[in-house]
Amino acid sequence: MNTPQIPVIAIDGPSASGKGTIAQLVAEKLGFHYLDSGALYRLVALKTMQSHTDTGDIDRLTAIAKNLNTAFIDGQIFLDGTIVTDAIRAEQCGILASQLAAYPQFREALTERQRAFRQSPGLVTDGRDMGSVIFPDAMLKIFLTASAEIRAQRRYNQLKEKGIDANIADLLQDIQKRDERDSNRSIAPLQQGKDARLLDTTSLTISQAQNAVLSWYNEICARDQRLNAQ
Ligand code: DC
Repeated sequence: MNTPQIPVIAIDGPSASGKGTIAQLVAEKLGFHYLDSGALYRLVALKTMQSHTDTGDIDRLTAIAKNLNTAFIDGQIFLDGTIVTDAIRAEQCGILASQLAAYPQFREALTERQRAFRQSPGLVTDGRDMGSVIFPDAMLKIFLTASAEIRAQRRYNQLKEKGIDANIADLLQDIQKRDERDSNRSIAPLQQGKDARLLDTTSLTISQAQNAVLSWYNEICARDQRLNAQ
């Protein structure tokens, strides 16, 4: 007899596509756990900067990734006991995270840590390779994207709301550079997998995007129930 697997919804997509917001809302709605895999990459980037580690020293970087002392509690992210929820969102952290993410050995060091988030009753996760590498048996895989221009505009609005000054042209350039690096690396590049459904949110509201994910999930559950009943 096959043991039923704990369900995983894997949402992959480019930087600032809104995948984190959608994944979190879907997780809340379903009562599932949530993993922001990008946060792990950003945490290692922050620790690397804090400890002045040479960003070319892959063995040291891998050791940092393996020994990361972190916790995700009630929406807050801790590193060595200190809240770093906002600190890891800094542009510098994202850029370094994207650079470190190109090292295969480094990515491997984070694999088991990510898989450990698969807990009952289910997991919604977002990143770049959740459906292709970390949870290849995810019951629903989504490639969530939006035009680079609209992503830059959304990021601009977010920063503005937080009272942070920003320039749309610079944000657009950063997003395009990050897309380029994340899409062209040789290991686990950012791309839509053959078995992933495309969700383009360029002209969707947050609630429309959330509903699209939930209706795919319900459709798959209904199909599985029909199959089990046969
Ligand atoms: O999703 P994010 O912008 O917080 O991720 C930061 C960087 O981490 C991103 O530019 C690439 C890397 N990353 C990755 O390579 N694989 C993941 N599953 C998640 C993030």
